[in-house]
Amino acid sequence: MLSQHSELKTGNNADADFIADHLLHRLYRLQQQHRHIPPQLMVEVAREFGLPVSQVVAVVNFYSFLYQQPVGRYHLLFSNCTSCGYQAGEVNLLALLCRQLNIASGQTRADGVVSVDETSCIGMCDHGPSMLVNGVPIVNLDEGRIKQLCNLIAAEQSLDDWPADWFRINNHIRKPDLLLNAPLECGDSLKKALAGDALLMLESIMQSGLRGRGGAGFATGKKWLFCREAESDTRYVVCNADEGEPGTFKDRVLLQCHADALFEGMTLCAYGIGAKKGFLYLRGEYRYLLGHLQAVLRRRYDSGLLGASILGQAGFSFDIEIVIGAGAYICGEESALIESLEGKPGIPRIRPPFPVTHGYLGRPTVVNNVETFIAATHIVQYGSAGFSAVGTEKSSGSKLLSVSGDCRTPGIYEYPYGVSIQQVLDDCGATQVQAVQIGGPAGSLLAKKDFNRQISFEDVSTGGSFLIFGENRDLLSINRNFARFFAHESCGFCTPCRVGTRLLENSIGKIADGRATWRDVDEIKQLSGFVRHYSHCGLGHTAANHILDSLRHFPGDIQNLLVQQAFTPAFDLDAALETARQMTQRDDADAHLE
Ligand SMILES: Cc1cc2nc3c(=O)[nH]c(=O)nc-3n(C[C@H](O)[C@H](O)[C@H](O)COP(=O)(O)O)c2cc1C
Ligand code: SF4
Repeated sequence: MLSQHSELKTGNNADADFIADHLLHRLYRLQQQHRHIPPQLMVEVAREFGLPVSQVVAVVNFYSFLYQQPVGRYHLLFSNCTSCGYQAGEVNLLALLCRQLNIASGQTRADGVVSVDETSCIGMCDHGPSMLVNGVPIVNLDEGRIKQLCNLIAAEQSLDDWPADWFRINNHIRKPDLLLNAPLECGDSLKKALAGDALLMLESIMQSGLRGRGGAGFATGKKWLFCREAESDTRYVVCNADEGEPGTFKDRVLLQCHADALFEGMTLCAYGIGAKKGFLYLRGEYRYLLGHLQAVLRRRYDSGLLGASILGQAGFSFDIEIVIGAGAYICGEESALIESLEGKPGIPRIRPPFPVTHGYLGRPTVVNNVETFIAATHIVQYGSAGFSAVGTEKSSGSKLLSVSGDCRTPGIYEYPYGVSIQQVLDDCGATQVQAVQIGGPAGSLLAKKDFNRQISFEDVSTGGSFLIFGENRDLLSINRNFARFFAHESCGFCTPCRVGTRLLENSIGKIADGRATWRDVDEIKQLSGFVRHYSHCGLGHTAANHILDSLRHFPGDIQNLLVQQAFTPAFDLDAALETARQMTQRDDADAHLE
């Protein structure tokens, strides 16, 4: 099915340059070849990589883009995000697609031609409803496009012959500022850094006040210094390009438009900490960027900006390889990402120790977000003073926001930290806004009264997601979507999160279906506290935020749906007895509950 052209779209034709020899890549190729990973091939791969078969089986089980049963020759994965998801106004595009293809979601059709399923946000929120077809993003879907797509599948047309504009992904940079406006010549920052001492460069990163852009906001200079000072002869640099937070797509655009500045930032970090090897961990949904990233790396090697004796400096060598994920949001968490880099399921580690001392292969490792590395390149080029002069006291510099949802111009907006939420709404043409969700489902849901608050680490912090919900949106259906996201993406390692996120999903569903009482609301509050406090990692700690925010800011939306009894069961007892009635061939009054 994937011919030469579509391989270009997926990046699959790219030669092996800069692609790590990695278990996930081997399994992905088998998946492409056989449309699943048959058990005997798992045994072969285990032998090839010198791993226990159980590890290979665990990896296939863990990642959602690897399958144990064959998927269709056309494998369609509809994004179920609130922005790039399948609900286009009144029309449920997924339902339409399934009707047209005569298939249920989650299934492969008996003739093996097509399979349809849902997947978490694919990072195309500025392009409206979107899906992956054999791993390639198709955007701006509507009723017409869905019908046309079904006809192409019915005719078994190669992806090469599908309309090119379906695959066109725009950058939608609406408002550039400090980073996006500044010209950065390849290698200039590196030349500046190499002209001085590595410690001096670290000093300047620290003075700039740069904090991580991936969410947690840890001081970048300090992280690099801790890693440099950790006892070891081997250190690693890792760029976290796993961007899986629903509503976030700024790293996608940075990888497309500023890959040079990113690789330069990683090289600066290597110089600062004394690393010889780096990895770019790219989310599987962005595989289509692979060819472009390889071309940039090739150019940098050819220009002496990577490899041995960088810019002629004896003893300073640094190589970068790309590792591509396979559909697991939790791999954005840095210790889960490191596990995945090591060819294992992405289960977060117990911390401490932290990656700066015990990271990849147990060695000191810096993990930073794409935007953080680019900001570091900017600081080395233009100086720390200019950077720290922008923003607020505890949040220096600027932040890229991925703006989507109910607004006229979704896209990338860069602002100095401290910008008000209302300013962003005004700039993107959002009117009659009911609420905004900042920082993705794990972040904060804010109502109108909070629109004067600021984007900053001191006030409302975000990794980049800025979702807008207009007055016509049903907020409870948004909560339901988020609750489902967390239940689906929980890695299952710890019980409070594995079970708690599923119970929260059920409880939200019960409210939305009009079957809940006040007692259910009390239970949700208790359960939310439990999941937050007893889960092992950040996913569980934040999974209930959106529900608690809704209860705080929009209690009426929930109250109106409650039935007035003190208690109603979460499931229909009488319906549950239907199988027993059928087996005993009874349907009289006594065979029913009252
Ligand atoms: C569930 C979860 C998902 C995360 N996803 C990402 C991600 O996609 N990209 C990212 O840079 N950081 C993500 N993080 C934060 C990382 O763990 C880590 O803090 C970050 O990569 C450090 O880089 P920074 O200091 O440059 O922000 C995630 C954290 C959690 C708990
Ligand atoms: S909190 Fe959730 S995602 Fe994190 S380790 Fe536990 S089960 Fe996995």
